[in-house]
Amino acid sequence: MTTYRTLVVVAHPDLASTYPDRQMDAGREQELLQQHDLVVLLFPWHWYSVPGLLKEWMDQVLTHGFAYGAGGDALHGKRLQLVTSTGGPESSYAPTGHNRFTMSELLRPLEATAHLCGLEMAEPLILHGASRATPAELAAHAQRFRNLLSPVPAA
Ligand SMILES: Cc1cc2nc3c(=O)[nH]c(=O)nc-3n(C[C@H](O)[C@H](O)[C@H](O)COP(=O)(O)O)c2cc1C
Repeated sequence: MTTYRTLVVVAHPDLASTYPDRQMDAGREQELLQQHDLVVLLFPWHWYSVPGLLKEWMDQVLTHGFAYGAGGDALHGKRLQLVTSTGGPESSYAPTGHNRFTMSELLRPLEATAHLCGLEMAEPLILHGASRATPAELAAHAQRFRNLLSPVPAA
């Protein structure tokens, strides 16, 4: 059976401990990206987007000539999996809800990023209302996460 080589970028705390000064080793990160087929970005939802540190990683690592632009095809055909958790419950992410917009609307910039970089974006895995999640909900989420870390590629 073919398996994906999976890279999980954990923002935070792993990125924070690797790069306490926020200066990424872009060459090393790019090398890791090139060695894997499935790129998982794991992050808490901050201000309707990725946390600043993950945005920093994107700014410094997804560079012109590597991830986009002339010759920038290093990520083409790889798969991108977003895994995030929100404070707001699912019902708050609706036109009439507290957060006004749906998650798929708010995820559009990341979808555009994936498109620009030639990444195939999988359905995001989202844990809503993280602080109020029950142990059973957390266990179900963890199981879904485990499943997507070892997907079976199409024949
Ligand atoms: C700076 C900051 C911004 C946040 N912005 C949002 C937000 O826009 N929408 C939301 O639903 N929750 C927001 N939250 C709540 C976090 O998403 C939630 O606490 C997190 O998913 C819990 O995961 P963690 O324990 O790994 O941080 C924010 C939290 C912080 C600290």
